[in-house]
Amino acid sequence: MLPALVIHGGAGDVDEKRALAKLKGVQIAAREGWKLLNQSGGSALDAVEAAVRVMEDDENFNAGTGSVLNLDGDVEMDALIMEGHKLNAGAVAAMRDVKNAVSVARLVMEKSEHILIVGQGANRFAEAHGVPRLEPGALITDYEINCLEDVKNKRKGNAPGVGTVGAVAVDKEGRVAVALSTGGTCGKTPGRVGDTPLLGCGGYCDEAVGAVASTGHGESITKACLASTIFNLMKQGVPVQDAAEQSCEFLTARTGGTAGAIAVSKDGHLAVAHTTDKMSWATVSNGELRAGVKWGEEVVEKI
Ligand code: GLY
Repeated sequence: MLPALVIHGGAGDVDEKRALAKLKGVQIAAREGWKLLNQSGGSALDAVEAAVRVMEDDENFNAGTGSVLNLDGDVEMDALIMEGHKLNAGAVAAMRDVKNAVSVARLVMEKSEHILIVGQGANRFAEAHGVPRLEPGALITDYEINCLEDVKNKRKGNAPGVGTVGAVAVDKEGRVAVALSTGGTCGKTPGRVGDTPLLGCGGYCDEAVGAVASTGHGESITKACLASTIFNLMKQGVPVQDAAEQSCEFLTARTGGTAGAIAVSKDGHLAVAHTTDKMSWATVSNGELRAGVKWGEEVVEKI
């Protein structure tokens, strides 16, 4: 069963054209993550970071280039990375003008004594560690400018970017990791931070159990502590798919919001669940890459 990788490209209701672009994007990200995971000595941590970076660089996802815009029309990103051996984690929030926020989160984990650095502090930290600062506006796409206009005018036009991008993996050594990145919610108040960089909300992992990543409406996910709710069910021995489905359903029943999640158990069992209409996802294990824009509908390729 080992290694195994699951990724998602965000839970939310998007039109068919965007859904197809996301399907292609998660397949590319899964292949990139798998390349690192399946090689000799491949680490779960490197694989989840690589898969998330691919989606941050693809403007069809709400992360990095293509992030949704806040009320002022700016991109502010949140990201998290965690490894399940020593429970080390790093995160950034409300961060601007970097191409790959997930890699700054990894620098926070590996080069600082902190877990979460926000706003200007996150940008200063990134610059001090050699991460180039982009020109203001470099991450903004026309699609998201239109989405923000639609949200401001309460029109139903382009589906606003929603969700997060995320990856969970277990490697051949049984090490687990999770990574997430997001632009948050379209039209958010500047400075707003969602679930993504919060341990137990956006993601969590421990090699004794497995790894979990959430996506969807951040305030609802935070109220339901979605990642830790799934994780704790897995810890009690609930099968990973049941744990993810039950927890997403609990979130929706209890908060009225919608969300999705992916998970992998330490022995390589995989889960994909969502209460949104769609969620792009991909899994790789046992020589097969499966991907879809809804759980239960999938394309399969040998890898
Ligand atoms: N789940 C992403 C956010 O709401 O920020």
